[in-house]
Amino acid sequence: MMKSARLCILLLTAAVSASPLSTEDTGDRFTLPSAAPNYIARAAAIQAKRKGWLYEEYPLGGAFYPTGALANKTIAKQQAKWFPTVVEHAKLIDAESKAALAGIIAAGNFSTLGDYAKTYENQWNMSLPNGPMMGMITNYTDDRLFSMMRLSATPYKLYRVARHERLLFPVDNAASITGGLSLRDLQIQGRLFAEDYSRLKSKRDLESTDKYGAGCQAYFYIDKSGDFLPLAVKPIVKGREESALIYTPKDKPADWLLAKMLVNQNDGFHSTWDHVGKSHSVAEISYLAAIRTLSNNHPVMGILSRLEKQPWGVRPNLQTGLTSGASFIGPQYYPWTADAAVGYLNELYLSGESADFERNYYRSEFKKRGLVDSSFGPKLKSFPFYEDASLITEAIREVMEVFINSYYPNDRAVRKDVELQAWYREAKAARVYDFPRINSRQSIANILTHHAYFNTIVSNVMSTNGIHMNSMALPFSPAGFLQPIPSEKGLTEEDLMKYMPTPEGAVWQVSTYVVGHRPMWRDTNETISHLFDDKIFLAKTNAKTRAAAAKFMTSMNDFSAEVRARAFDQNGLNRGMPFLWDALDPNYAPYWAVI
Ligand SMILES: *[C@@H]1O[C@H](CO)[C@@H](O)[C@H](O)[C@H]1NC(C)=O
Ligand SMILES: *[C@@H]1O[C@H](CO)[C@@H](O)[C@H](O)[C@H]1NC(C)=O
Ligand SMILES: *[C@@H]1O[C@H](CO)[C@@H](O)[C@H](O)[C@H]1NC(C)=O
Ligand SMILES: *[C@@H]1O[C@H](CO)[C@@H](O)[C@H](O)[C@H]1NC(C)=O
Ligand SMILES: *[C@@H]1O[C@H](CO)[C@@H](O)[C@H](O)[C@H]1NC(C)=O
Repeated sequence: MMKSARLCILLLTAAVSASPLSTEDTGDRFTLPSAAPNYIARAAAIQAKRKGWLYEEYPLGGAFYPTGALANKTIAKQQAKWFPTVVEHAKLIDAESKAALAGIIAAGNFSTLGDYAKTYENQWNMSLPNGPMMGMITNYTDDRLFSMMRLSATPYKLYRVARHERLLFPVDNAASITGGLSLRDLQIQGRLFAEDYSRLKSKRDLESTDKYGAGCQAYFYIDKSGDFLPLAVKPIVKGREESALIYTPKDKPADWLLAKMLVNQNDGFHSTWDHVGKSHSVAEISYLAAIRTLSNNHPVMGILSRLEKQPWGVRPNLQTGLTSGASFIGPQYYPWTADAAVGYLNELYLSGESADFERNYYRSEFKKRGLVDSSFGPKLKSFPFYEDASLITEAIREVMEVFINSYYPNDRAVRKDVELQAWYREAKAARVYDFPRINSRQSIANILTHHAYFNTIVSNVMSTNGIHMNSMALPFSPAGFLQPIPSEKGLTEEDLMKYMPTPEGAVWQVSTYVVGHRPMWRDTNETISHLFDDKIFLAKTNAKTRAAAAKFMTSMNDFSAEVRARAFDQNGLNRGMPFLWDALDPNYAPYWAVI
């Protein structure tokens, strides 16, 4: 469903400049409205928040952004906290970029693909101390690395092709690749998967820069042994659709590598921009609607405020980066301009693809794409993203259920909570797309779990703790190419080098992406294990919640130990992948959506 293309300002009432920050007695326990000791003061405090937190269109688009006297105060306070850190971090990265560039040149520039490893060697000691994930640099020509990235690093676009679905493109030699199964056989047997980035075919549609890319369609399949492998890639260039080439593993290595890199470019660009809507904007707007309807004494407000730590800095940072062309977000090596990127982000947001709330609940969303619980075709033998994400998210759900059940004896009590019901109505007015009805204990536990999923899972995989270490790691994922997409096959590796980024381009790419990384927070209380570890918050809850929170931390510590013990087996694989995917190590990945 397409929403109206322009957000308009609504509910913008005159700000009351004299409203105090809070007139509310915040108390030492969270309470429901029905049990509030001072209902009149509580209602007045909510009213003051409604006057001081208003909605405003944001220049970048996406969801509304807060404005108003109280909102401005909070934003200014948060800004004073995050901005110096951002500037300090950017300065350090700038110094590291210069050292990295000097290091590459001193080591003799790039003349082979293998030389791109120099981009990371003994560099980025503060911002990327361990470089890309183990295997990304050494094993990238292995087809399983390419295919398994779709089941780990970039899991949000892949889908299983349905039995009667129209195929994206033909692959005449499919049987020679699959050991006898034609494209149609794969489809009928439920073994065929696809990604479709034809939207990114560049030029005209999406304004392009002086770098080159394509909009790719790609097929993957489950082979007879159960391995998940790539089948074919069709890079589409605007104006040259009819003559688009179809690449397969049967092509010469450099041709096939170029095709795989083009898919990586698409997935990397998609993660970069889609995460703004998918993790930040949707969480921000739901939270803003909650601020306007829930008392600060409400337990749900308490947990939301813990999850949404400093949310208002993200878009201003991005805005600053885009408008100033600052090195950390400049569009220098993407094939698409900054304006095109913002357009793409809004397109995904307004179409609901990134912004829909309930439809993006991960279990049903991955099921809808046929990746889990599919009644059609073989099961995926290994699905690293889902295995890790579900372990963490279900542990979170357990805490949310205990938390909610400790306040509401039954579903009726949820339906009778006037503040929760007001949040639901407010969410419509705030244009939180597809916000679910709050009619049971499970429904509210699910909403809170999804909020935590934005921050702990989506934001880390698409940004903070993943992208620069896998889907944007060199040499396999250059942000853009220096030469137009070829119209015939027959590249040598030497030819391919002419497409690849210069040392400046490589350094731009690393520095752009490590801005979001927080290696200095490894093993600190900023990580997922500490999601509920907030003494002030816990003191206002109850014994059951505190016990659930403690259990969560123990299970996350156990899981972190498991992630850190991962190694390559005798076939050089881990969970079927030639690289170690550890983006969701709960003692490394931050618990909140940092950037
Ligand atoms: C809040 O900040 C916005 C953006 O700077 C400004 O336009 C608005 O007038 C401010 N509102 C109040 C009440 O201070
Ligand atoms: C590195 O090599 C490329 C390709 O030969 C060349 O264009 C570039 O100027 C070189 N850069 C430096 C700093 O030597
Ligand atoms: C990064 O650390 C390594 C190991 O301590 C050191 O050899 C290297 O010089 C450092 N790099 C920079 C750019 O400081
Ligand atoms: C997190 O750790 C830091 C440093 O040890 C400490 O100053 C801070 O109070 C801790 N935060 C919480 C919420 O426990
Ligand atoms: C992947 O890389 C690791 C580390 O370099 C190596 O031990 C492993 O054998 C490689 N796997 C494959 C399948 O090549």
